Amino acid sequence: MSDTKKEEIASSLISEEVLENIQHVNNPVLDLPIIEKTYLQSVRSFTKEGNNYIFSDGKAKVEVKVVSDDIIRVRLAPIGVFLDDFSYAVVDQAHEPHSYDVKEDEINYYVSTNNVVCTINKQNFLVSFSDTKGKLMNGDFSPMHWEENDDFGGYYVYATKKAFDDEVFYGCGDKASHLNLRGRRIINWNSDTYSYAFNQEPLYKTIPFYQGVTGGDAYGIFFDNTFKTYFDFGGEHKDQTSFWSEGGELQYYYIHGPQLIDVVKRYHELTGTHYLPPMWAIGYHQCRWSYYPEANVRHVADQFRKREIPCDAIYLDIDYMDGYRCFTWNKKYFPDPKQMISDLSANGFKTVVMIDPGIKVDENYWVFKEGQDNKYFCRRGDDYFMEGFVWPGRCQFPDYTNPKVREWWGGLYKGLVEDGVAGFWNDMNEPAIFGKGTFPDDVRHYYEGYRGSHRKAHNIYGMQMVRATYDGLKKLYKNKRPFTITRAAYSGTQRYSSVWTGDNIATWEHLRIGILQLQRLSMSGLSFCGTDIGGFTGNPDGELYTRWMQFGVFSPFMRVHSAGDTVDREPWSFGPEWEAICKKFIELRYKLLPYIYSIFWQQHKYGLPILRPVAMLEQDVYKNLLREEEFAFGDKILVSPVLNPSQKSKVVYLPQGNWYYYFNNTVYAGGNEIEINTPLDEMPIFIKAGTVMAEYPVMQYTGEKKIESLKLLLYYDEGENHSYGYTDHGETFAYEQNIFLEKHFIQNSTANSVKLLQQRDGLFTEKYDDYKIYPVGLPFEPKNIVMDGVSLYLQIDENGEKYILVDNDFKKLTIE
Ligand code: GLC
Repeated sequence: MSDTKKEEIASSLISEEVLENIQHVNNPVLDLPIIEKTYLQSVRSFTKEGNNYIFSDGKAKVEVKVVSDDIIRVRLAPIGVFLDDFSYAVVDQAHEPHSYDVKEDEINYYVSTNNVVCTINKQNFLVSFSDTKGKLMNGDFSPMHWEENDDFGGYYVYATKKAFDDEVFYGCGDKASHLNLRGRRIINWNSDTYSYAFNQEPLYKTIPFYQGVTGGDAYGIFFDNTFKTYFDFGGEHKDQTSFWSEGGELQYYYIHGPQLIDVVKRYHELTGTHYLPPMWAIGYHQCRWSYYPEANVRHVADQFRKREIPCDAIYLDIDYMDGYRCFTWNKKYFPDPKQMISDLSANGFKTVVMIDPGIKVDENYWVFKEGQDNKYFCRRGDDYFMEGFVWPGRCQFPDYTNPKVREWWGGLYKGLVEDGVAGFWNDMNEPAIFGKGTFPDDVRHYYEGYRGSHRKAHNIYGMQMVRATYDGLKKLYKNKRPFTITRAAYSGTQRYSSVWTGDNIATWEHLRIGILQLQRLSMSGLSFCGTDIGGFTGNPDGELYTRWMQFGVFSPFMRVHSAGDTVDREPWSFGPEWEAICKKFIELRYKLLPYIYSIFWQQHKYGLPILRPVAMLEQDVYKNLLREEEFAFGDKILVSPVLNPSQKSKVVYLPQGNWYYYFNNTVYAGGNEIEINTPLDEMPIFIKAGTVMAEYPVMQYTGEKKIESLKLLLYYDEGENHSYGYTDHGETFAYEQNIFLEKHFIQNSTANSVKLLQQRDGLFTEKYDDYKIYPVGLPFEPKNIVMDGVSLYLQIDENGEKYILVDNDFKKLTIE
């Protein structure tokens, strides 16, 4: 740092301690170039407009906006002019904060809501957030700062926060790192990262949202900036967390907890949730690069049915197209796609196909012609079309940041939808360009009329592509729910699509990475996520494939996928021993479907994450914050996938309460670590005692069988326990008109009685009239069973198991 600069800072009113730290931040210990940054000076003025408070140091301005009782947004305008208030991520800023206020004393301004106090120090402009008891949750280490960008205009913008000694950091999307990001520096720049490594940066997605937990309390920071962003979680300086961007505005949301799950929920309030997927989308999916020609596709489908292994969807990767031209068929491989899809459909298979953004430059190709005639493709700084090589060869690329282009793109799916295609897979949308990585920075984007270079639009390109896809499909399928999946994403992509973790590798290390990535994605708003089960590149052996399949049952998106140069990857490809185990586990997925569907609803409606790390269940015990090999799937199932070859047992931490080991119903007391055997055909799966869990019979595909009476497993536990169930048609948007049924089961049990209450809400009528309730772990022999005043008795099913047949709309069941 130059002496003048030092003096300039010193002459401002920044405290010595902060100055010391600023010097430390700029200290070129890592041989980095010395960068001249400008820091906020002391607060000179303050104005108020509704729930917006603007503070100024005479030149720069900071806006503090109360979004809700738990969310406060901070924006920085280096020369006093804020950018247009537009975000691709945030859907709803119109929450009404219940109450907010501003006070000042000699030292600070205090902007407060019912739950949060945002303090702005007058002298040094440090901004911090505390709870109403005065506990500091997050605070600036040095004032917000910036640096001019001479090449593009605008500023590189920086925030540096204190990192508490005990603080643990989560979130940030698909990062292939330990769950706790402490000590890491991450980069957000959507990248095609074939065969990525542990800790590799950047990856495919940009989710600039993290959570911190300190002293058992959690908060979140969402840095809504689409440029290349960086987060350093105590990596460069142990006591500091910084985030910065190569452009755009320093704009972030402080999201209050104190429960981690509430931070994620509130992040969903800002950025939306996933629409409820069609039921078939949460079944088992089979994919490969590529199944072709048609005979091969039919063969794979037939094998599933012959071997009675459930499967709902088959994917066609790029080879189904004519010369990789999107929205066309290779008629040599697929002479009559409509017929094939209809035959597959009659056999219970949905067909999902790949669509990439690169449109082949070919004057005789209608999609290229339309895009060209209407000027829908992206252009370079000096007006040349952006061209790059991808699968089809030389391509141009739609500018999805233009609503007109999105409308056009959405309509292009018409033909494929008419052919019967049920779902679409958007890939290479980082965007990826062979040999060059991605577009050059100077490419221009419409950006909803706000304009921007590729530096600004890069990270939202994939999101806007899949948005166009989703919106188009929603119209084309009329009232049916589309299924979409995307590789690239930005915050908020959950409103349009599910995601997968890209080109992973068939290794045990990658199985472990997948478990970390899916938990992290779920904490980052992208709950509908999955890995390529078995690994995309390389070849798994039967054991790795099977253990990965077991994890797949508890992946929100369950799909096997692999690269073309690898060995076959169907559940039967590794021999009968592995096939039998894979079949057993895929069947388990189908049994759990009513439960899984309910947790998807809870995600959609209430913003609850689907995978919940132990940290989210018991955040007040420090050790739990670091557990990353096990997680809850919804709120009633705890799983701890087996992550090593030849592993005979695994130590599993069970959170407080009692837990039933799924495969033999042994009850374990929680709050403890236990060691559990891990034979190949089992994995550590525990059901929370007290749960009422619906189970479907095994079906070969969703909806194959009519449910005559729904099976409910009643896992006994002393005390009061609540369970939740959701049901509807399974494929339309009727749920938006309240055509659904939410069920609450309240189990109240003692050592010699069980009382089960049911409350139902919604307009959907189930197709069955009864439940078969199977008591599990009852400590007494029932003598007296009464449902709403009617005496019932225990019956025995074909497997010799005892159940009680009750009306599905019962209100009260007593077992004594
Ligand atoms: C990319 C995708 C992969 C796909 C391949 C061919 O590598 O990540 O899933 O199979 O392209 O389309």
